[in-house]
Amino acid sequence: LGKRIVFKESVESTQKEAHQIAEEAEEGTLVIAEEQTAGRGRMARTWKSPKYTGIWMSLILKPELPPFKAPQFTLITAVAVTEAIRDVAGVMPSIKWPNDLLLNGKKITGILTELQADSDQIRSIIIGIGVNVNQPEFPEELAEIATSISIEKGETVSRAKIVQAIMKKLETYYDEYTMNGFSLIKEKWESYAISIGRHIIARTVTGTIRGKALGITDEGVLKLEDENGIIHNIYSADIEIEQ
Ligand code: BTN
Repeated sequence: LGKRIVFKESVESTQKEAHQIAEEAEEGTLVIAEEQTAGRGRMARTWKSPKYTGIWMSLILKPELPPFKAPQFTLITAVAVTEAIRDVAGVMPSIKWPNDLLLNGKKITGILTELQADSDQIRSIIIGIGVNVNQPEFPEELAEIATSISIEKGETVSRAKIVQAIMKKLETYYDEYTMNGFSLIKEKWESYAISIGRHIIARTVTGTIRGKALGITDEGVLKLEDENGIIHNIYSADIEIEQ
């Protein structure tokens, strides 16, 4: 992975750039930028991506799989980025389903997995990764919920080393996944996750469900048991962990 790198000083969104080249790009192509002027988050949110401080990148993969397997790639990426940050920065993030990495309860990483697919086959999967590495501070509206590795660690960290480590881990886990399936990755994901076994509130587009997070399925879907003992499969939501 990352044999071909498209490096840009400033883009609207690396995700948008990756979508544009995905069809002809070879698998493993990485689009990376120093700054995004219109970075995108999940659920139509924006993602602040100031210059030279974070990692803003999108990776193009072309697995021969049906589209419903795509959420697994969010979890593969979460495991890879968690371990990369642990190894390079010496701080251990925890994962909040489906795609947030937290340090001391605040978000340092978001992952956005998008597809170009036919009904039964993925053509390209575009994994957007945003890591807050060296921002010295956050705007007031984000300061309660977001942080950077350097704020939490008290010193700046090499972005290049983290990118290298992420790519290496992703390659390892993509190989593992292709050869042996999802089970080892699922195990690691569950061991790094903070929400499993806890009472959570899941806000989906169709409504809010409260319950206990039981774990994830082999497809990366969150299993939630409500107070009546009914088990819900949550495909997409924002979750809040209850005290
Ligand atoms: C989220 O937590 O909502 C996901 C955030 C994903 C941000 C990354 S930064 C690189 C890539 N390009 C984008 O526009 N978004 C993703």
